[in-house]
Amino acid sequence: MSNYHIKNLEEYYQVYRKSVRDPENFWEEVAEEHFVWRKRWNKVLEWDFTKPEVKWFEGAQLNITENCIDRHLPTRGNKTAIIFEPNDPKEEAQHITYRELHERVCQMANVLRDKGIQKGDRVCIYLPMIPELAVAVLACARIGAIHSVVFAGFSATALATRINDSDCKMVITSDGSYRGAKTIDLKGIVDDALESCDCVTTVLVAKRIQSEIFMKEGRDHWLQPLLDNAYKDFTAEVMNAEDPLFILYTSGSTGMPKGMVHTTGGYMVYTAYSFKNVFQYREHDVYWCTADIGWITGHSYIVYGPLANGATTVMFEGVPSYPDFGRFWEIVEKHKVNQFYTAPTAIRALAKENLTFVEKYDLSSLKVLGTVGEPINEEAWHWYDDVIGKGQTPIVDTWWQTETGGIMISPIPFATPTIPTFATLPLPGIQPCLMDENGQEIKGRPANGRLCVKFPWPSMARTIWGNHQRYKDTYFSAFENMYFTGDGALRDNTGYYRITGRVDDVIIVSGHNLGTAPIEDAINEHPAVAESAIVGFPHDIKGNALYGYVILKETGEERNHDNLRKEINQLITEKIGPIAKLDKIQFTSGLPKTRSGKIMRRILRKIAHKDTSSLGDTSTLLNPEVVEEIMENAL
Ligand code: PRX
Repeated sequence: MSNYHIKNLEEYYQVYRKSVRDPENFWEEVAEEHFVWRKRWNKVLEWDFTKPEVKWFEGAQLNITENCIDRHLPTRGNKTAIIFEPNDPKEEAQHITYRELHERVCQMANVLRDKGIQKGDRVCIYLPMIPELAVAVLACARIGAIHSVVFAGFSATALATRINDSDCKMVITSDGSYRGAKTIDLKGIVDDALESCDCVTTVLVAKRIQSEIFMKEGRDHWLQPLLDNAYKDFTAEVMNAEDPLFILYTSGSTGMPKGMVHTTGGYMVYTAYSFKNVFQYREHDVYWCTADIGWITGHSYIVYGPLANGATTVMFEGVPSYPDFGRFWEIVEKHKVNQFYTAPTAIRALAKENLTFVEKYDLSSLKVLGTVGEPINEEAWHWYDDVIGKGQTPIVDTWWQTETGGIMISPIPFATPTIPTFATLPLPGIQPCLMDENGQEIKGRPANGRLCVKFPWPSMARTIWGNHQRYKDTYFSAFENMYFTGDGALRDNTGYYRITGRVDDVIIVSGHNLGTAPIEDAINEHPAVAESAIVGFPHDIKGNALYGYVILKETGEERNHDNLRKEINQLITEKIGPIAKLDKIQFTSGLPKTRSGKIMRRILRKIAHKDTSSLGDTSTLLNPEVVEEIMENAL
């Protein structure tokens, strides 16, 4: 039996029990057998959730890129590491071997060093899904700089907030990006953002769409000529296991986005381990995750997890609907994809289209189908299973978070029997539990409660950049000695988990986490707006869409509501990005508030859900009359 590669259910239970009985020994065996370390650890795990402080493989030294690239060179030098599939199917795909990846990462590392980047510096990467993105991420890791990838759909304001929060010295971007039939002026967005970022001294610009752009003298440099002149070798920086590898921002229910800090050794061990098991990756397989590297899914399961296993990973620049809704399936056929990992929102969007978009293509290479990012509804699950998997391809519904770094609850294909909408069982090393509202663990089955994790795992985020107190308050204060996920879940008789959704003010729209507070802040900046509240409501494709209740300032003036709606969405697009636009905006004279001034979102949520049969207790409201008005005018 191998800890590393689980092949059937019996083995899963054996390995799982072992991982809980003696976690240190379990992870030590995995770390010892499958990675190269420059120096061995002194201690496998040290932890204290009350501080909270977690350290894995303390004292060990390594460079993650030596594990993701160099160590494969003797045996897999000519193997394709990355298949780049461009936005336009007429443009040829690129196959980048491990040897080429090594050269490109070394060249980029040399460029970074020449431009003054040192170990520990923060580098913001704002790039489309082109090979330079993966190369930049790995080059930062090679030199020991902390990368902060910002999804290239975020606005200038959102980008500036993230750059300033972690004091980035450099931004790596491109002239622009392709998105289906459109192009986006990325460099223009960076220029706008940098108006308010004094910390950035250098901008490196990759050429992608050949557009005319402004280059600021002394600050901006075209990337390619620098790469062309750089050495193809670079001695990897020796990092401590607990040195930060990257920062990745995720929305919180309140305030600024949270810069989750992931460290090196544990993250590597866990992403590699979970990748191998959840996708049952075999040596000559081609694996494709459709996420963007701007999200955690891309970090862990396009770049680090697959490359640490010497896998071939597909990077797709485009969108599922361009040039038509058959694009995903065309790519599966073209590259003979074996493992395919996507989000429920994409599945729902594609399931609405004509079956001919699927039937044209040969999908027989598929062995495992994955989903992530939000609960998958039963209908979408069955479509995925029947139409894409032909009823023969296991679906892994993987539950995890930016904060967890890696997949936490998921079936293991060919081992765990699946049930639609259930993420099923925890991976080895993961100890989830359900808590009731009084802070007690619910031990029985079946059970419904708040999902927590009671023991550390190697890839957990260690802190929030610059704000450890917030890390503690958000994740370790709701329940004593527990990591609180912010999700609700139910557990059935067999111990399977089903994630029921967020229990806080985070709303997941098309698989993207959106905090209500930053959107409300953006709306409130409109000169006509006095106050606002956002809730989610069910949407066929996006899972949830946003419903805004807006109170206008009393000026005595008549305002055109349709124009205001457009202006509000424009403002949200500028401040956050188009993903946070509202589907419905209702103007109202007030919001239901408790006597302590808190908005009762529960009521607003019910109205948005058109579920007003039982609004629950409204007696504690300061202004119960406003509920009637809101119900009458609901959209
Ligand atoms: O609510 C859960 C939902 O997505 C949240 C995490 O979002 P993010 O940090 O952006 O990471 C997404 C990719 C890992 C979770 O708190 N979520 C994620 N996967 C699932 C899910 N909800 C239900 N089922 C899933 N498989």
